[in-house]
Amino acid sequence: MYLQRRNRILRQSSAIRSMVAETILRPADFIAPLFIDEGENIQTEIASMPGYYRRSVDLTVKEVKELWNMGIRSVLLFIKCKDEWKDNTGKEAWNPDGLMQRSIKAIKNAVPEIVVMTDVALDPYSSYGHDGIVLNGEIVNDATVEALVQMSISHAKAGADFVAPSDMMDGRIGAIRKGLEETGFTKSGIMSYSAKYASCFYGPFRDALDSAPGFGDKKTYQMDYANRTEAIKETLMDIEEGADIVMVKPALAYLDIIREIKNAVTVPVSAYQVSGEYAMIKASAKMGWIDENKAVLETLTSIKRAGADLIATYFAKDAVRLLG
Ligand code: PBG
Repeated sequence: MYLQRRNRILRQSSAIRSMVAETILRPADFIAPLFIDEGENIQTEIASMPGYYRRSVDLTVKEVKELWNMGIRSVLLFIKCKDEWKDNTGKEAWNPDGLMQRSIKAIKNAVPEIVVMTDVALDPYSSYGHDGIVLNGEIVNDATVEALVQMSISHAKAGADFVAPSDMMDGRIGAIRKGLEETGFTKSGIMSYSAKYASCFYGPFRDALDSAPGFGDKKTYQMDYANRTEAIKETLMDIEEGADIVMVKPALAYLDIIREIKNAVTVPVSAYQVSGEYAMIKASAKMGWIDENKAVLETLTSIKRAGADLIATYFAKDAVRLLG
């Protein structure tokens, strides 16, 4: 058989394949999410996220040192708030001595160069488990935005490099940017969860922080997964309002959205491989149905190939190890 072109020539050895690989993962691509709890020397495995832990601040600092030494450049912080501090205003979120604020300081103190990003949304602090303030069964927008501004300023004050609003209220990026400007935090960045979908894949995360909504769901603020154009609208608006980095979340079921956004914007694009994506890989690997390490590298590479410049993933450490 005569063939003018044989595409398999470029696939015949691992040396050639590595020469022509279009997508290369590197440690600095990853943002490592961390769950933080009160106490000392505490490390609790999250039931629906085997191999992933909620840690007290001291052990979190230890973990951050390890991540930094492996080449990971950024962490994304989430805290578990005690029930007795939850209410419908979320005021614990901007307590200067709150767990988040103490964690930021401890991490920046131990590893000053690591980029600390913080989740901004009221759900861990809300007695209703919603991302905003609840009034007559509704999650009210404008009062929530005011709370998020206070929360963001308090994170910046504690030393956060980026705040990461994950709430999907309207106008919050502009309001947070204005708040940071007015208080002199002109070097604080905003990584906006700009296209965040109402997804079943957040389930294990809500176990980790005990933050599941007490009533209803999050569909009046998070996006409908049927929509694509709306993701571009949300993202362009966030950029106009001052977002430095935008995000698509979840990742694997939304690769088309990542690509659309990547083509539409000129700021870095991040994607969040969320808790349910982690749990799916872990569970099927445990059953012996897929190879965990291969699934980790394949999914992360596909997310980067789709257009993500940065990937928040619970597999950050595993991926760096696998990349050797
Ligand atoms: C809080 C928040 C959530 C996640 C990140 N920030 C949960 C939610 O919106 O209900 C999910 C992360 C994950 O599932 O890994 N607003």
